This record gives sequence, C-alpha cells and structure tokens, in this order.
Amino acid sequence: MTTDHLPTHRASTHTPNTTRDGSPGSATDRLTQEVLRRFELTPDPRLRDVMRSLIEHLHAFAKEVKLRPEEWLLAMKTLEETGRWCAPGRNEFIIFSDVLGLSMLTVMQNAASPPGATEATVMGPFLVEGAPQFAMGADISAAAVGTPLHAQGRVLDLQGHPVANAVIDVWHSDERGLYDVQDGFEENGAWARGQFTTGADGHWRFWSVMPVDYPVPQDGTAIELLRATTGRSMRPAHLHFRIVAPGQQPLVTHLFDRLSTVLTEDAVYGVRPTLVVDFRRHDGGTAPDGRPMEGHWCALQHDFVLTGV
Ligand code: BEZ
Ligand code: FE
Repeated sequence: MTTDHLPTHRASTHTPNTTRDGSPGSATDRLTQEVLRRFELTPDPRLRDVMRSLIEHLHAFAKEVKLRPEEWLLAMKTLEETGRWCAPGRNEFIIFSDVLGLSMLTVMQNAASPPGATEATVMGPFLVEGAPQFAMGADISAAAVGTPLHAQGRVLDLQGHPVANAVIDVWHSDERGLYDVQDGFEENGAWARGQFTTGADGHWRFWSVMPVDYPVPQDGTAIELLRATTGRSMRPAHLHFRIVAPGQQPLVTHLFDRLSTVLTEDAVYGVRPTLVVDFRRHDGGTAPDGRPMEGHWCALQHDFVLTGV
C-alpha cells in the first residue's frame, strides 16, 4: 500500500480531481482506491459487493460533508453508548436504523406482497425470542394496564385457505406507552406479549389491553438524534405481529389504530394504509367470546394473508 494519502507538511496548491481507476487523483481519493482494492480480496461475492458499495458511499459521504475529527469521534462515542443500551428485547441499533428509514426501506424492497397478501412493516427493537406461549383466546396482558382489548382473526394463504400451525408472536405497549422490556423485564417478566399456534381453522384470538401512541424510548441514544433533528419521535398505537408458518414466507407486521392522532408522522415510517384498522370502541355489552363486559373495551378483527414460499 502506498502512504501518499497520509498528511504531509508539503504546501499543496491544488487537489487534482480523481478518476475511477485512481489516477492521478488526490491523496484522499487514492486512499479510497486502496481500501477498495483490499476489500476486492473478499472471497464471498455478495459480501464483496456489499463492502465495495458501502466503502464507496461512506467515503463519498465523508468527503462531501468534509467530516471533521470531532464529528467522527462523537459518532463513535454515540455507537459505544448505543451498545450499552442494548439488552435482550431492546436493540437500540435497530431504533437508529428505524428512525433513519433504513429498516422500512429494507422491508419495502424485499418483502414480496402479491395482491391480497398482508404487507410487512418494521420489526422494531422490542421482539423477544421465546415469548410465553398461550392457548388461543387467553389473556396476555398480565401486569399491563389499559382498556381491555379483544383481538381476533384468521391466518390465510393466498388462496384463502386457513393456515394451520402458524406460530404468531404478539407484542405491544400498555396505556403508558411502555413495553414490558422497558419496565423491569428481568423482575416482572413478560406482559402484553405472547405466542400462539393456529389450529386447522387458522383462527387466532386473544385478550390484552389497548396500545397507545408512544414515543421512541426517551432514555436511549436514538432519541437524542431525533431531538437534534426532526423533532418527530412518536409512533402511532399498534400491535406487533410476527407469523411463521410452514410453506409460507414469514411475516413481520403491525396493525395500527385508525384513531391514532400521529398516523402521518410515524418516527420510523412504518405506517402502510392497508395496516390501519378499526379498533372498535364499546361500552358494556357482550364480547365476541361471550364475556359480559362493563365499561369501555375495544375489539379488533383482522385476517392475515401469507405469501407461499
Ligand atoms: C416499536 O415499534 O416498538 C418501536 C420502533 C422504534 C422505536 C421504538 C419502538
Ligand atoms: Fe411498537
């Protein structure tokens, strides 16, 4: 490797433009070319392509904004701090990806949604593997506080047939806008979170509490970026679903409350019109499973349509 990209004390009167092959180019352009040359040695072709593009764009970005050492150091310290916020069920790096629109972009350009199939959206930072398993119709709210919610529907394939043995993970906020993993998860365990498996009829149903609009976690690093930039940190009230079924593509999605007041300003760009549904408000009466109800409660009915592999 040459060292002529290193700073020298020679007075330089001009920086010549570079060419793609690196000649003659400025010292910084020659550095970029040398980095690219080394990464061309990557044996895996996909990783080689990804790294080439990443290096080209990262270097172009640093040159365009003329990145300063103190800015670079701030970014490195922020990443270090971001790692400290991560724990099982809380991935602050995902929140950064989400608020930069990268998560939704990845979803949109990869998830195949043929007509009639349920659209995907971001996973978010709060999925916990190995969530408690429940019988269909159970109440998953546990310690969560909020207005009772009865949610039900079916898992179907593109031909409209019920999908059996679909494993459904559900997770959502309570009425404070917090998730279990933000509030003493190790001591209190899971709430407003559970896993179900569909039977031959493809039906799913559960009780829980209504989610509410909530902000990106106020105690991490991603919120600091939003405070300094867009000022938009709210997520519209939603339930998260991950559905994994034999013979079908996995689906990660949300159902959003049509009455949310922040549907147009989701901090993570995850709202898709097809995922905005009616959480019907009720006062007393009888729930869909025959339970007599007093006071306010809500009901949701929605079918998920999966795409075959
Ligand atoms: C969520 O969907 O749960 C979420 C997404 C981004 C930041 C915080 C939460
Ligand atoms: Fe969420």
